[in-house]
Amino acid sequence: MPALVLVGAQWGDEGKGKATDQLGGSVDYVVKFNGGNNAGHTVVIGDDTYALHLLPSGILSAGCTPVIGNGVVVDLSVLFEEIDALEARGVSCAKLLVSADAHLIASYNRTLDRVAERFLGKRRIGTTGRGIGPTYADKMNRIGIRVQDVFDEGILRQKVEAALDMKNQVLVKVYNRKAVTADEVVCELLSYVERLRPMVADTGLVLSQALDRGETVLLEGGQATLLDVDHGTYPFVTSSSATSGGACTGSGVPPNRVDKVLAVLKAYTTRVGEGPFPTELTGADGERLRTAGDEYGTTTGRPRRCGWYDAVIARYAARVNGVTDFVLTKLDVLTGWEKIPVCVAYDIRGQRFDEMPMTQTDFHHATPVYDYLDGWTEDITGARTLGDLPKAAQVYVRTLEQMSGAPFSSIGVGPDREQTLELRPLL
Ligand code: IMP
Repeated sequence: MPALVLVGAQWGDEGKGKATDQLGGSVDYVVKFNGGNNAGHTVVIGDDTYALHLLPSGILSAGCTPVIGNGVVVDLSVLFEEIDALEARGVSCAKLLVSADAHLIASYNRTLDRVAERFLGKRRIGTTGRGIGPTYADKMNRIGIRVQDVFDEGILRQKVEAALDMKNQVLVKVYNRKAVTADEVVCELLSYVERLRPMVADTGLVLSQALDRGETVLLEGGQATLLDVDHGTYPFVTSSSATSGGACTGSGVPPNRVDKVLAVLKAYTTRVGEGPFPTELTGADGERLRTAGDEYGTTTGRPRRCGWYDAVIARYAARVNGVTDFVLTKLDVLTGWEKIPVCVAYDIRGQRFDEMPMTQTDFHHATPVYDYLDGWTEDITGARTLGDLPKAAQVYVRTLEQMSGAPFSSIGVGPDREQTLELRPLL
């Protein structure tokens, strides 16, 4: 079995953690290919809830090797905090591999992320403040620090000094902050060397050899399609490639080894941070969805903005990622509405758009064209087949599927691993 890609179809928090965790039991490797500890996966197994930020959700599946790919930015303090917290609960992280090419989030980039947001004021992105953007900017500027650098103190010091030459000017002169010394940065990074050493590998090679042996590799995206730096709602995006193309560059697995692209899609829409969101509900209806879906950020605790399902976005995600299967999540959250609006197109200054408009200005002016589907009141959390759902819920699912550009293969009706209707096998 070749590689599979799993991405978010909307603005993140679609429930990828649960999907990866479900697949994790039957795959040999789960690879995180982009992002860093800006992500937040909540995985519920029986009575236990695990909130993961940096580690791939595959860490919870015995038998599966979790991999942090070259496309990820790693905050070493967070990495070891997460490992310690999981091991304290009896979850072994012994198999974790970290790419030698992944970039490290240095303390000055955490500082810069936060002060830059404050500086932007009304124009802020609403980042998670974890240093993600500045670290990817350093990577592209070729002044980044990589995992492999911590094993050569001389090189590490040279690279940190080179980065600080520029960073300190910005910190002091633009943001009025204290300069950072190379010593403090080098010291912090070196303090992790011994724990890090056994995990570090040429992960591209490891994955290639695994695929040659016929093993299954799942490439898991952080964030989601509309947060992708190229294909998302720029500039209100994250700084990495969260779509299926990023799965290849962020892992070293080439496109011709990818067999399936799974995308996780919530039965309604949420986003955190700033930026346009055509189906957003700002009043009591939004609050009702937020409460029913417990829509608060796993990483920052921020309340998520909530709105109705947007089929234009789903079609866009299907196209940009080459989706072969959608995994629909949180259908149960919609129980109890008499009518459920579904956005089928946009109205932009009197003109109908069935596809995402080309420009940001148009997207800002998009108002949803809704179809109103019948709701249901029955508790659906015990359903295990499509036939167990009330008729109106079945129609809701099938109508969404027809509009969204790829088949729905799995439907979530609750947070637990078991609360899933499998319409066709994902693997
Ligand atoms: P950054 O990734 O911290 O730079 O934040 C950029 C944007 O991406 C902000 O709007 C964040 O709220 C959003 N974002 C980053 N990671 C996630 C995620 O895992 N889920 C949802 N939104 C995210």
